Amino acid sequence: MPLVIKGVQTAEDARLCAEYGCEALVVSNHGGHALQGTEGTIEMLPKIADAVGDRLEVYFDGGLRKGADVLKALALGARAVFVGLPIFWGLSVNGEEGVRHCLEILRTELSVTIGLCGVTDVKRVDRSVAQDPASGSAGGVVGEHGDDLVGRQDDAQTAGLPDASKIGLHSRRRQPGYARG
Ligand SMILES: Cc1cc2nc3c(=O)[nH]c(=O)nc-3n(C[C@H](O)[C@H](O)[C@H](O)COP(=O)(O)O)c2cc1C
Repeated sequence: MPLVIKGVQTAEDARLCAEYGCEALVVSNHGGHALQGTEGTIEMLPKIADAVGDRLEVYFDGGLRKGADVLKALALGARAVFVGLPIFWGLSVNGEEGVRHCLEILRTELSVTIGLCGVTDVKRVDRSVAQDPASGSAGGVVGEHGDDLVGRQDDAQTAGLPDASKIGLHSRRRQPGYARG
């Protein structure tokens, strides 16, 4: 049976997961139901992904509310993501159909955002479309091509909660209608 450890928040614990033979881990603070005031999980994600490399699969959850949030997690090292609260919102509005609708919205938003970033296949998403939260710098594309089409969100941030809104996204290609002079 595959062993997946949820709630990993440090590179050191991630390395131990790999060392002890886990198949995967979930970078998560259980939707903020953990120690308050820690680094956000989206900031931990690239460090954890780097620490384990391809020794195990890295998943992510916490605070994902839009397709762009999903893309940021994929770009920063997650192979897959989970959502918690949005599922319950869909459920409370319209039962099973509401849950389905919620997932469809996320899927559609993800697809649109990936396209806006100039990526044609979700499997080819990499750090070049995301601002690295550890360094505070872009993954490389903005400096080379000069366009930053996808706006940053300025949602209020809550200390200790996972927060993808501080990560910027970048288009990999020039789009004539938006090109800056
Ligand atoms: C109603 C509810 C119950 C939860 N119960 C657990 C739990 O028993 N164990 C756990 O590890 N995480 C639990 N979680 C956290 C989720 O597994 C998940 O990590 C979190 O909801 C993801 O963040 P999000 O809600 O912002 O998407 C729960 C979440 C919710 C909303």
